[in-house]
Amino acid sequence: MKIQPTRGTHDLYGEQLSKYRIIEKIVQTNANIYDFFDVVTPIFESTDLFKKPLGEESDVVLKEMYTFKDRNDSMLTLRPEHTTPMLRAAISNNFLEKLPVKLYGMGPVFRRERPQKGRYRQFNQINFEILGTDSVMADVDLILLADKILKNILPNNKINLYINSLGDKNTLILFKKELSNFFKNHAKDLSEESQNKVLSNPLRILDSKNVIDQEINKSSPKISNFFSKDENNKFLSVQNLLKEVSIKYIINPNLVRGLDYYCHTVFEFKSDELGSQDTLIGGGRYDGLVKLLGGPDIPGVGWAGGIERLILLMNNNQKINNKIHFILMDQKFQSYGLQILNELRKNNLKVYFDYKYNLKKSLSQANQLNTEHVIIIGENEVNKNLCTLKNLKKNSQKTITLDQLIKILAQ
Ligand code: HAM
Repeated sequence: MKIQPTRGTHDLYGEQLSKYRIIEKIVQTNANIYDFFDVVTPIFESTDLFKKPLGEESDVVLKEMYTFKDRNDSMLTLRPEHTTPMLRAAISNNFLEKLPVKLYGMGPVFRRERPQKGRYRQFNQINFEILGTDSVMADVDLILLADKILKNILPNNKINLYINSLGDKNTLILFKKELSNFFKNHAKDLSEESQNKVLSNPLRILDSKNVIDQEINKSSPKISNFFSKDENNKFLSVQNLLKEVSIKYIINPNLVRGLDYYCHTVFEFKSDELGSQDTLIGGGRYDGLVKLLGGPDIPGVGWAGGIERLILLMNNNQKINNKIHFILMDQKFQSYGLQILNELRKNNLKVYFDYKYNLKKSLSQANQLNTEHVIIIGENEVNKNLCTLKNLKKNSQKTITLDQLIKILAQ
């Protein structure tokens, strides 16, 4: 058996890595337009950073974190998300003196879930956060940004936006109690997984994928019945602003998100083309989280998207290889060849030299790589101080000067 990557992890290369790089560029361009600045945080942090904020009873903390003891006995965890490390970085580095602060980042996160299509143990997230404003404009701005990035990456895919509100922390506490009571009465009919959550985490029963749980959920208490006028108005404003900019949304009263820190607006962008791991982007408001981490009492809102899931949906257009394949027919033409190569690169041309010194093998490789342009240097070219340019797509070739060659290839 060949050596393989660890279960739930994968190497990124070729087509997939090209798509990853395209996503990176799109994210950076839009982050710039929306005026976010990027932060790269460490891959591991103190375990305490995650436990309470994500929820001691959340699946991530209970089952999925990669936690280990350091040599000095302190507990460390590979980050299972970016939000808490980003907020920690904002506090540690005094970003919060002038508000609001708009941060973004990208990179690997780690969760020990059961691997399947679209679900990995190491995966990459795009992450945006706005700290220090409770304006619903920030919620909507972030949804618009997510919508724009998704449309740039996946222009032809149908993606639905689901929204809900969880009210403020006190409402959520009351609602959880009521929900717990409701599920206690239905406990024997719930799936085993949901039965375990009746007391500890009843909110998560609402987004259970089990059909019987879903049937029971239809008659469960609805959080909107617990809203004050203010909470209601806040949610209505989000909806009105979304209508204002023609963003279609579906209200899903069972959308609760998997992490504990959320309140008010929560949202998810989903695709029908991904099977069960269908959420591309998820996020919402988390007022109180910065304070919980030891910072000032300021509100926050943000989202994260899974890069691997986006890659799964991106088209496989076999692009023509834009590299120029450079062939030296014999080692004895090295010094002439090197001068030509050097001039081409000085002119910023992307040249691939295969070091083969064998015309047949090189042409066959250029074909396999789907290359369009090939430069061939042999006896004739060296003697006449010229180069041969072959177009493999058009099946044509001409022998020309270096200046002519550069002119053609630079187009
Ligand atoms: P999350 O919903 O846990 O939210 O993850 C966000 C996205 O990461 C998901 O929508 C999905 O695309 C991707 N994802 C999650 N788990 C996996 C996995 N095992 N394999 C592949 N992709 C996955 C958060 O992480 C929050 N921090 C989002 C946030 C930011 N809320 C406010 N600010």
